[in-house]
Amino acid sequence: MLKKLSCFCWFLLSQLLLAALVCSKDHGNPANDIVNLINDNRTSHKLSILNDSPGLGCMALQYAELCKTNCTANNTIDCKPSEDDFTEIFAPNCGVELPTFGTITGRIVGCQSKYLEPPLAFSHVLAKDKKAVSVLQNKSHWEVGVGMVGVHKGPFFWCVLFSSGRTNSTFVLENRGLGIKQKKGCYSGSSLPCSSGLKLAPYPSNVMIMSLLVYQLQQLYSNVFLAM
Ligand SMILES: *[C@@H]1O[C@H](CO)[C@@H](O)[C@H](O)[C@H]1NC(C)=O
Ligand SMILES: *[C@@H]1O[C@H](CO)[C@@H](O)[C@H](O)[C@H]1NC(C)=O
Ligand SMILES: *[C@@H]1O[C@H](CO)[C@@H](O)[C@H](O)[C@H]1NC(C)=O
Ligand SMILES: *[C@@H]1O[C@H](CO)[C@@H](O)[C@H](O)[C@H]1NC(C)=O
Ligand SMILES: *[C@@H]1O[C@H](CO)[C@@H](O)[C@H](O)[C@H]1NC(C)=O
Repeated sequence: MLKKLSCFCWFLLSQLLLAALVCSKDHGNPANDIVNLINDNRTSHKLSILNDSPGLGCMALQYAELCKTNCTANNTIDCKPSEDDFTEIFAPNCGVELPTFGTITGRIVGCQSKYLEPPLAFSHVLAKDKKAVSVLQNKSHWEVGVGMVGVHKGPFFWCVLFSSGRTNSTFVLENRGLGIKQKKGCYSGSSLPCSSGLKLAPYPSNVMIMSLLVYQLQQLYSNVFLAM
């Protein structure tokens, strides 16, 4: 019986370790990882590093949010937001101060039937063809923002916006840089982790893991009592 118990304990311990691992993986913001991948690629081609702009990132998230359901079966996008959408929908939704709205010098959008880790999203979705790479490596850009959001059990959408704003004085977020809190997805330049909508896609939720643990504990107890 002791043997059986210790065996269960090992099982429980391994489950706890797994839970800890999953939890620790949740804290990142993959939109920031994509900005780093863009800048690594630019510096290795002797281009300037782009300033990570949270205001631009949040607008990229709005773009993704508007277009996320327009991902076709072959991962192409049928979505054309107008210029007015930027100033009339995207900026107000983020709390971007309109007088600081700068010039957008490029955009790259991509979608995929499921979430991809940042390096794969970069190479397979965003920098996947010559046209996208030339946008990515354009000398006119000084700032970048990345937004991403998924549809529950549906496609995942990425958007990268570039701007020629040279200082941190473009796309300024109200409320001393905090802007308006977003409910879904995530964007670069923000210290906030991705919302649950995104976390649920790649990793099982903590609630699920906790209930699994409780279930296993119950099993352990009933087994111990049966053995006695
Ligand atoms: C930059 O990205 C492009 C597109 O993925 C790739 O072809 C190129 O090799 C990358 N450059 C470096 C130095 O990694
Ligand atoms: C992808 O699908 C759209 C319509 O759903 C079609 O117009 C387009 O030609 C397809 N593209 C490729 C590369 O197959
Ligand atoms: C998304 O697709 C629908 C249906 O094809 C279309 O009516 C709509 O205009 C598209 N959205 C945008 C923002 O282009
Ligand atoms: C770089 O971006 C600017 C502004 O959008 C554009 O006018 C120019 O044609 C682009 N250059 C290349 C090489 O794509
Ligand atoms: C913009 O802000 C970032 C982070 O606060 C800082 O590292 C960077 O030096 C600033 N750039 C300029 C041009 O002020």
